[in-house]
Amino acid sequence: MRILVTGGAGFIGSHIVDAFVAAGHEVAVVDSFWSQGGGRRANLNPKATLHELDIRDAKLIDVFTGFRPHIVSHHAAQHSVSISTKDPFYDADVNVRGLLNVLTAADKTSVKKVIFASSAATYGAPQYLPIDEVHPQVPQSPYGITKMVAEHYLRYFCTAGTMRFTALRYGNVYGPRQDPNGEAGVIAIFSEQILKGSPIRIDWDGEQQKDYVYVGDVAAANVQALERADAEAINIGTAVGTSVNELHRLIARAVGRDVDVVAAAKRPGDVYRCIFAVEKADRELGWKPKTDLVAGIATTTNYFRSASTAPSA
Ligand SMILES: NC(=O)c1ccc[n+]([C@@H]2O[C@H](COP(=O)([O-])OP(=O)(O)OC[C@H]3O[C@@H](n4cnc5c(N)ncnc54)[C@H](O)[C@@H]3O)[C@@H](O)[C@H]2O)c1
Repeated sequence: MRILVTGGAGFIGSHIVDAFVAAGHEVAVVDSFWSQGGGRRANLNPKATLHELDIRDAKLIDVFTGFRPHIVSHHAAQHSVSISTKDPFYDADVNVRGLLNVLTAADKTSVKKVIFASSAATYGAPQYLPIDEVHPQVPQSPYGITKMVAEHYLRYFCTAGTMRFTALRYGNVYGPRQDPNGEAGVIAIFSEQILKGSPIRIDWDGEQQKDYVYVGDVAAANVQALERADAEAINIGTAVGTSVNELHRLIARAVGRDVDVVAAAKRPGDVYRCIFAVEKADRELGWKPKTDLVAGIATTTNYFRSASTAPSA
């Protein structure tokens, strides 16, 4: 199949591109290399064709008419909760207007299916645990709102036309290529800091737990979604909560050294526990997380170790 991956030079998108290419698909990427995103040319699979373009650009339709994708995997986004609170206009411009540009182009060119990167942020503060897909969506940030709105637009476009969709609601994704300079991505941040011997910052009491899912498993869920789970929103996580203090211990053990900890206050909007129920992913997609946290952290710290010793280009 011909698959267009928006955000395909980014952390998650590039692993999805690799998985689609490995499965024998023809892949094109749209990415603007947004200065505050994790997009890197080095992430790009050499077998994929790059269109360096903003998803909001009127020329996007030319990419669709030229490549004629069967599937669109929409991963380009303004991905930061804190940027969304500081600049909700920008967040909505990329995550809503950009999405509409993608969906109208997909609709005009008879794309069969859109797979969308949604988020745990659409649920807001958990009302019960583990969070399943019928948990109320009460997002607590502009980012969570735009991701939730995007799910509604997908439903609208797919009910009105012949296009199908799957929304994958990711937990905290981690793994090689994650941007260690962002505000989120605690595993990438700790890995880089501990490898450098720099102190790490732990907010709140460090006992807050999130559901950390390995990026290779997320890419596998996207491959499964090519043919399955139409019109569904599905949690992609592990059903296991891990605290920040535990991550610190596991990463220090994987690196073979430890560093000082600087204590900091709770980040606004942070939730104490967020753990996904993942039975629906098994039922609808035939997907289960395969990579346990110790193995995933080993791969991630090895990646950051070699990235830090690689000669700069
Ligand atoms: N990382 C996570 O834990 C997580 C969790 C839930 C959902 N998501 C979603 O998954 C997707 C990928 O996230 P990521 O962590 O890989 O981030 P990332 O920044 O590494 O990747 C996003 C990519 O989109 C590109 N991009 C941004 N704005 C664009 C625009 N206007 N036009 C074209 N390209 C643009 C960036 O250059 C980047 O390559 C996003 O939609 C994000 O909201 C991520």
